Amino acid sequence: MKIDFWIFIIFLLQLQTCSGLEVTVPSNPETGMAGSSVVVPCIYSLDFNQMEPKLLLVRWIFRDKVLLMFSKKDLTSYGRATLNKEAAMNGNVSLLLYGLKVEDEGMYTCSVEYNGELHLKEVQLRVEASPSVEVTMSSTKADDKMNLDCLVKGFYPKDVNVTWYRNGEIVNNGIITSEPRREGNGTYDVNSTLVIISSKIRKDELAECRVEHVSMGTPIKEHFVLTQIGCKRNSFTLVSINPVTIFLVMVLCHGLYWALCNRLKSKSNVVDEESVKPAVEPEADVQKCPRMGEIMVPRLVNGTKAFLQCTISGYCPGNLNVTWLWMKPGTQQLLPISPNDNKTATVEIKREKDKTYTCTACLSINVSVSGENSAQYVCQVEHPSLERPLQKRTGNLHVIGIPVIKVRRETRRKKTYLTAVIEGIFPLNVTIMWSRMKNNKLVDYPETDKQKKSSINLDGTYNVISSIKDKQSRARKSKSFKVTINHESLESPIQQTILREEGVYYLLTENGRNRLP
Ligand SMILES: *[C@@H]1O[C@H](CO)[C@@H](O)[C@H](O)[C@H]1NC(C)=O
Ligand SMILES: *[C@@H]1O[C@H](CO)[C@@H](O)[C@H](O)[C@H]1NC(C)=O
Ligand SMILES: *[C@@H]1O[C@H](CO)[C@@H](O)[C@H](O)[C@H]1NC(C)=O
Ligand SMILES: *[C@@H]1O[C@H](CO)[C@@H](O)[C@H](O)[C@H]1NC(C)=O
Repeated sequence: MKIDFWIFIIFLLQLQTCSGLEVTVPSNPETGMAGSSVVVPCIYSLDFNQMEPKLLLVRWIFRDKVLLMFSKKDLTSYGRATLNKEAAMNGNVSLLLYGLKVEDEGMYTCSVEYNGELHLKEVQLRVEASPSVEVTMSSTKADDKMNLDCLVKGFYPKDVNVTWYRNGEIVNNGIITSEPRREGNGTYDVNSTLVIISSKIRKDELAECRVEHVSMGTPIKEHFVLTQIGCKRNSFTLVSINPVTIFLVMVLCHGLYWALCNRLKSKSNVVDEESVKPAVEPEADVQKCPRMGEIMVPRLVNGTKAFLQCTISGYCPGNLNVTWLWMKPGTQQLLPISPNDNKTATVEIKREKDKTYTCTACLSINVSVSGENSAQYVCQVEHPSLERPLQKRTGNLHVIGIPVIKVRRETRRKKTYLTAVIEGIFPLNVTIMWSRMKNNKLVDYPETDKQKKSSINLDGTYNVISSIKDKQSRARKSKSFKVTINHESLESPIQQTILREEGVYYLLTENGRNRLP
């Protein structure tokens, strides 16, 4: 008997170790791109003919947390992770991670357990994010210098090479590159600035910011045509890397641009003006392109008048054309403002010491929710120095309605209600809190004790009515109630206090108390 027992034990052990379970994962790291999905491979083998599905337990573990569990043909997932259940029964328990983030990078443990036998294997996952590259121009305090900024955003891992080229040759001097800065989502940003001496720009020079990153097979190349500096910023700042386009732009620059965008500082400009054959004869006086500030939009209160303002400066000659256009609420079409629209445009022009002009363009509008909320305005400027008009846009306007609040007392079916009537509010989002004094403490009314109703007015604003029931309106004891109303149009919440004394209700104000109607 004893021997039989041991044989049985050995047989059991054999059963365990002889399930033939093998788990394989790749030895090299897997790589996924941020934002997309990735498969982290893990394969197990068993004698599938004799496999008992309910004895299988698969887990994926990341940073000591179970990401998902597959057992008894059921899948439980705790994140952006899944696996193919059918494939899992046949040995493929690869993890599918979707919406990949930088923080998902690390070691993943594939844990396969069959009939009590456990195998763990680790796979490394790397995440990469490709940068976006933008070249912009900014002027510096020194008059003769311009900065070309190459803004490289959203890449991971941190290693990146940013190189500047000028006419195809690497630039080694006059470059300031920032340290990579980590963004909230784990990616990095870097800025590289190339300082350019404006007077040394040769005609039609091409600057290029080249960015190499492990996430991309080929570098990103952003080009910038230097003759445009000081003019045409809004119309033609960036040029794609397509050689045909570059050629076209160069031809354009050679002719039109050069002719129209004469720099005021032509004295200090080493460019030999004679060698440039302008397509258009430049005007006698020097032309300077206008600069446009953003349209300033004040707080827009329903029922008031408001002024949109746009400042255009640094231009000459003085003949500038300002046009306002608008997109009515709920439409997509940009229309010129017509006399029927009841808006008035004005301009104020000033000549500066440096002989350039500044124009302040104003548009007065009558603010109403129905007429202006979500409308958009465009200020458009035409000037002889510009090949095409400059534009600034407001984005969707946001109108607010400041409410008028009245407190009333109402009796319905012998029950007394305290009511706050809120008129002319916009948008509808309003918080109304009721509370009452109980044992010297304020107690809030639960949401269910309140009744709230809203209706829309002709001008697009809303009226909101909120009531509470005073259950002990007959009681002799005095009691006070408070209503607090909060809304984005209010600088601070409005509070009203109501006092009940001997069955009479009063509204407490700074000057005493008024009996409620
Ligand atoms: C395992 O499944 C994944 C998808 O879930 C697939 O991408 C992969 O090719 C499969 N592997 C094998 C060896 O079949
Ligand atoms: C990270 O955030 C930046 C903005 O902060 C965004 O431009 C970028 O697309 C984001 N990248 C990822 C991978 O989420
Ligand atoms: C890069 O420049 C942009 C715009 O000039 C700025 O907002 C950003 O903070 C800069 N980033 C770094 C890493 O210096
Ligand atoms: C950056 O340049 C160095 C030197 O040329 C090179 O070894 C490295 O691989 C580059 N890095 C990237 C991310 O391309």
